[in-house]
Amino acid sequence: MYLLLQLLVTVLTFMSHGHVAIIVYAQPYTSVVAPIKKHIDAAKPLYSVEIITTYDQNKHSPANFLIDIDAPFIWHDCIVLAESYKTNCPSNTLCPSPMSCEDYQCDDVRTIYSYKNNPSCPEDPGHTSLGGWGCACPVNVVDPVTSSCGQALLNYDDFTMYTSDGRKVGVDAFNKFYGANPNAACAPSSSFASFPANVSGVMAFSSSPYAFPAYLYQPLKKSLALCIPSKPSDRGVLFFGTGPYYLLPQLNVDVRSYLSYTPLVKREGSFGYFINVNGIVIKTRSINVPTNTTAKLSTLDPYTTLRTDIYKSVVRRFSMVTKRLHYAKPIAPFGLCYSTSTTGLKVPDIDFILPNGKKWTISTTNSIKQVTNKVACLAFVDGGATSEPEIVIGTFQFEDNFLEFNLQNSTLGFSSSLLRKKTSCTNFNFTPTGNP
Ligand SMILES: *[C@@H]1O[C@H](CO)[C@@H](O)[C@H](O)[C@H]1NC(C)=O
Ligand SMILES: *[C@@H]1O[C@H](CO)[C@@H](O)[C@H](O)[C@H]1NC(C)=O
Ligand SMILES: *[C@@H]1O[C@H](CO)[C@@H](O)[C@H](O)[C@H]1NC(C)=O
Repeated sequence: MYLLLQLLVTVLTFMSHGHVAIIVYAQPYTSVVAPIKKHIDAAKPLYSVEIITTYDQNKHSPANFLIDIDAPFIWHDCIVLAESYKTNCPSNTLCPSPMSCEDYQCDDVRTIYSYKNNPSCPEDPGHTSLGGWGCACPVNVVDPVTSSCGQALLNYDDFTMYTSDGRKVGVDAFNKFYGANPNAACAPSSSFASFPANVSGVMAFSSSPYAFPAYLYQPLKKSLALCIPSKPSDRGVLFFGTGPYYLLPQLNVDVRSYLSYTPLVKREGSFGYFINVNGIVIKTRSINVPTNTTAKLSTLDPYTTLRTDIYKSVVRRFSMVTKRLHYAKPIAPFGLCYSTSTTGLKVPDIDFILPNGKKWTISTTNSIKQVTNKVACLAFVDGGATSEPEIVIGTFQFEDNFLEFNLQNSTLGFSSSLLRKKTSCTNFNFTPTGNP
């Protein structure tokens, strides 16, 4: 009897393993992929990802969303309309269905997964009735450019991305697209006035259960890879999935082979991503940072911000190792500038020393920004004497670096500058493969 039972269990185990294996094998894609653009026409440089939105009876069209790895949920330019009112949807407008104030997600987002600590937001975003349909679910949204508070209505949304095997866009004719149905929020068009032109939403990539990654299936929700371009005319790349990832001209080098990994750490009250930094080294000299210094990763801060004590030490050391350059009058927000062009310029690396001796190397293209024709500055900013967290790593330092946020085992993979590997974030092959 026991033997029989054991046999049965063995057979069942075998069957279930076989079943899992078949599902994994049958999936012809390892990731979904989307282009990233840089925008310099707003108050600060910002980056968007192009996602396919659905409107007007399933017509697909691409729209640009700001990349925000900290936001609690997605919001964009749309109007909530209940199914029976969809014919009232204005042309060229997205009209997803509203979330009711009675749905549990409404309470969840309003009380827990909301924009936090913004003094300009009302404590209670109130209630909104939808004529004849019932009540909608208003939430506060914070403008990432102006930090002002606005209001949006939660919805049941519909986004589509291209599948990929890490090399191309759309793996085959039958599996070209992947659809996700997150709860997002609709804000009026006027909410996006401060955004770069043709960017009409915020794509939340945080650890919140209402951010985009939470709505993906395996293996796509395993990690988020970002590779942001340095020029507005270029196109970077974003992946969700497991890898591999390939960038031209290296057809057979998985970008993951360039990555070092460091743990991602959580911070109370934030949905964002943090890493520990143990020190900063510039030309063999170490700048001590306080024990347990955390650095927040930010896709909205254009330059890395350091608490004043750390900032001063970095600037002192950096000016020492760049003595041969001619200093220029600093141009805000920077404090150390040179009369020079970055063309052909090479300054010593700035190494962020991470746990287990891992090293994120910031080389010239990510440390020196050309501000005017004649002046280039150290692209680090004084965050003030009490800035919390002590370090915020901003986007200038991410450009042409490959970052893989492994959401499953909470690690960050980072490549340092891809230019040193003779490739860049603009080298993903977005050329259509000829699939219908
Ligand atoms: C706006 O962005 C979308 C998505 O990238 C693009 O298809 C469209 O051509 C852009 N429109 C303008 C006016 O640039
Ligand atoms: C998890 O993180 C480690 C680094 O700590 C990395 O080497 C490994 O590939 C990751 N595991 C998976 C399954 O992604
Ligand atoms: C640093 O972090 C570790 C682990 O989280 C903790 O045990 C230790 O007390 C912290 N040290 C300080 C000075 O905060």
